[in-house]
Amino acid sequence: MAFARREGHAFLTATDQPMFEAPAYSSNKTELYAELLKQLDSLTSDEPDPVANMANAAALIYEALPDLNWAGFYRMIDGVLVLGPFQGRPACIRIPVGRGVCGTAVAEAATQCVRDVHEFPGHIACDSASRSELVVPIVVDGRIIGVLDLDSPLLARFDGDDAKGCEQLMALLGPRIA
Ligand code: SME
Repeated sequence: MAFARREGHAFLTATDQPMFEAPAYSSNKTELYAELLKQLDSLTSDEPDPVANMANAAALIYEALPDLNWAGFYRMIDGVLVLGPFQGRPACIRIPVGRGVCGTAVAEAATQCVRDVHEFPGHIACDSASRSELVVPIVVDGRIIGVLDLDSPLLARFDGDDAKGCEQLMALLGPRIA
């Protein structure tokens, strides 16, 4: 089987089954997000298919970030957020702009870092285990094309470093899923 080797991680070529070697992720958030950015770049740089890239991004993030119970995408389609590739339990499919944490991130064009989802007015509970949430709008050519949504069963799981790290990941990924 043919291997292409980039950034110290082994991948089979696109004609074979993919193989991903997860490193021991850093416990330092700055380092962790720097590692993730490199891995996301390697996983998506040669692939033009948006679904494939969102699927691998969701899997990578779900594996690398500790204490998540959901990680995935909602895509803006005809003015509504529609469920995209994700890891975790089955989730609500369509979210209007302005509704829930995801719809608020689009309406305000701003990352939502929610310490306690029970205190967020209109929070949409897809998994009763979720206690905190981070939603990052994905902007391409000045237009929001979707959001990255991360849920955690821990209270206050996400902070400003997570928000900044995930915004950097989505700045890289955005043009590759548009
Ligand atoms: N909690 C989100 C809905 C999506 S699920 O968390 C996967 C919200 O309030 O928008």
